[in-house]
Amino acid sequence: MHTTNQSIIVSGGSRGLGLHLTERLLEAGNKVATFARSHTEAMDRLAGTYGDAFYFTPLDAVDAPGVAAFVAEVADRFGAVDSVVNNAAIGQDQLLMHTDLDTLRGIVDVNVIGPTLLTRAAIKHMILQGGGNICNISSICGSRGYAGLSIYAGSKGYLDAMMRALAREVGEAGIFVNSVAPGFFESEMSSVLLPEQLNTIKRRTPSGSLSNDENIFKVVDLVISGTTNMQGQVVFVDGGITT
Ligand SMILES: NC(=O)c1ccc[n+]([C@@H]2O[C@H](COP(=O)([O-])OP(=O)(O)OC[C@H]3O[C@@H](n4cnc5c(N)ncnc54)[C@H](OP(=O)(O)O)[C@@H]3O)[C@@H](O)[C@H]2O)c1
Repeated sequence: MHTTNQSIIVSGGSRGLGLHLTERLLEAGNKVATFARSHTEAMDRLAGTYGDAFYFTPLDAVDAPGVAAFVAEVADRFGAVDSVVNNAAIGQDQLLMHTDLDTLRGIVDVNVIGPTLLTRAAIKHMILQGGGNICNISSICGSRGYAGLSIYAGSKGYLDAMMRALAREVGEAGIFVNSVAPGFFESEMSSVLLPEQLNTIKRRTPSGSLSNDENIFKVVDLVISGTTNMQGQVVFVDGGITT
C-alpha cells in the first residue's frame, strides 16, 4: 500500500469500483468519505467496521451546493482533504442519432459537471493545506473510439483535458492532478456488454484478461500517494488494448 493516513473523498462509493476503492483505502488506514444517490447495504457495513474513519451521505454529484457542503463537512470531520478520486459516472449504450437531449444532458451533467464541482470545492481546501491529489477515473474511451459511447467518451476526454490544464493551474500549490483510465471491467455499468463482446475485447487485449477492481485500485493507490511526482498524466489500466 502506498496511501495511508490520508483524508480521501471517493465519489460514487456505494458500489462497483468506487466501493472497492473506498474499502481498500479504509483497510490501508485512511479516512474515506463517499457519496452516491442511493444508500446501499455496503455503506452500513463500512460504517459498522470503520466508525468515524468512514463517512457516507446520499448526494447527487450534480447538486452544486450539496457538493460544496459535503467537502466542507469532510474537511471538518477529518481535519483535511488530502485526495479526491472522481469515480462517480454514468454510462451510455446508444448510437448518437438515437440519443435524446435529456440523456445527453444527463451524461454531461454527471460525468462532466459532477467531477468539476467536486474538484473545484476540494482544491480550495488543498490550496490552503499546501497540497493534495486529484485522481480522475477516466476510461480508455476518452482516448479511443467505441461505437455507442460517443457522449460518454466525450465526457472522459473532457476529464483528461481538464486534468492537464488544472495540473498547470494548481501544480505550484502542491496539488497533483492525474487520470487513471481503465479498460472495460465487470460492474453494473459494463453489464450492457454481451458475453461475446467481452470475449472479443479479451481476445484483442495483449494481456489476455480484462482489468479488475484490484488492478485499478493498485494504480489509484500509487497515483494519490503523493510519492511519484506524476503530474498531468493519463495512466491506462487496460491490459494493453490501447497500445
Ligand atoms: N465498468 C467499466 O467497464 C468501466 C471502464 C472504464 C472506466 N469506468 C469508469 O469507472 C468508474 C466507476 O464505474 P463502475 O463501473 O464502478 O460504475 P457503477 O458500478 O455504475 O457505479 C457508479 C457509482 O457512481 C454513483 N453515481 C452515479 N451517478 C451518480 C450521481 N449523479 N451522483 C452521485 N453518485 C452517482 C453510483 O451510485 P448511484 O447510482 O446510487 O448514485 C455508483 O456508486 C466510472 O467513472 C466509469 O466511467 C468504468
